[in-house]
Amino acid sequence: MIFAHKYFIMKYHILGGIRMQGNVRPETMERITTAELANAFIDEQIKELKEQIGDKKVLLALSGGVDSSVVAALLIKAVGKQLVCVHVNHGLLRKGEPEQVVEVFKNQMNANLVYVDAVDRFLDKLAGVAEPEKKRKIIGAEFIRVFEEEARKLDGIEFLAQGTIYPDILESDGVKAHHNVGGLPEDLQFELVEPVKLLFKDEVRVVGKALGLPDNMVFRQPFPGPGLGVRCLGAITRDRLEAVRESDAILREEFAKNGLEGKVWQYFTAVPDFKSVGVKDGKRTFAFPVIIRAVNTKDAMTATVENVPFELLQHITHRITTEVENVNRVLYDLTPKPSGTIEWE
Ligand code: XMP
Repeated sequence: MIFAHKYFIMKYHILGGIRMQGNVRPETMERITTAELANAFIDEQIKELKEQIGDKKVLLALSGGVDSSVVAALLIKAVGKQLVCVHVNHGLLRKGEPEQVVEVFKNQMNANLVYVDAVDRFLDKLAGVAEPEKKRKIIGAEFIRVFEEEARKLDGIEFLAQGTIYPDILESDGVKAHHNVGGLPEDLQFELVEPVKLLFKDEVRVVGKALGLPDNMVFRQPFPGPGLGVRCLGAITRDRLEAVRESDAILREEFAKNGLEGKVWQYFTAVPDFKSVGVKDGKRTFAFPVIIRAVNTKDAMTATVENVPFELLQHITHRITTEVENVNRVLYDLTPKPSGTIEWE
């Protein structure tokens, strides 16, 4: 018992060198690879967050991604209802994601969660816009606008929490973490709270697991900020967006059932904006194809295509063409990166 205690103190001390101030990870900082190290980190961060925040309020945009979820869970432990989480449903999330955010954070963790249904708002703004960069910009700008509106409704917020992680700092030469990344207006500037900013992604996952977040949240595959918007190719329409969401859900379910979840780095579906002729129940159809993409990579700079068993592809094809509306074909993308990118837009 004494030994265990000593061991804990020693580990705690190793992590104890880190104050989450400054943007340089100390060389002495141990890589968080175990539940024990994660718990030491959590205890220390809770103490530090309590000191930083006192009795003030903190705002957090909670997407349901790994980083913002871990930050939310840490802050809930540290300051409870002083944290206000805002979850913006922009209509471009995967099937079940908004529901899971509400279930985990509001129902299970008793968080102060504001759920914003902004689906129509985003889809109206995106209507008719086919150019990929323009779509991205609209989604980003509208997100800030919705978040800003919610922030203005709240009184007494002094802090903004962000799921900045160490690669964000490394990639931006430390610039990003100094500023309110979101591009909020001048009169809405908060002091930043960034409890995982010195952690690498694998460490954030270990901490998330130790915080009790569900596995499908902690070990989730990468998902672009603009969400399904970049997989509903060209100008987004509601029918194709639903086809992307439903086919993606089938793909994820089948990969999980067949041992490919956690093995394949990233897999998803995309739906292009053209139709082809098909046949169903003896009748001619004119509907969209679904493209399946499944790739492996270390750093997303290059990628190879997963060798998915042909029988499984056939089974997924059958499910998608029978269960998803407005779809009559399924294609498998055989292209590595380069010459393709991972996403289609
Ligand atoms: P590409 O398509 O460039 O993607 O080969 C490399 C990785 O980055 C993800 N990705 C994004 N992530 N916002 C994000 O947060 C984006 O706009 C975005 N675009 C691509 C992509 O899913 C892949 O993991």
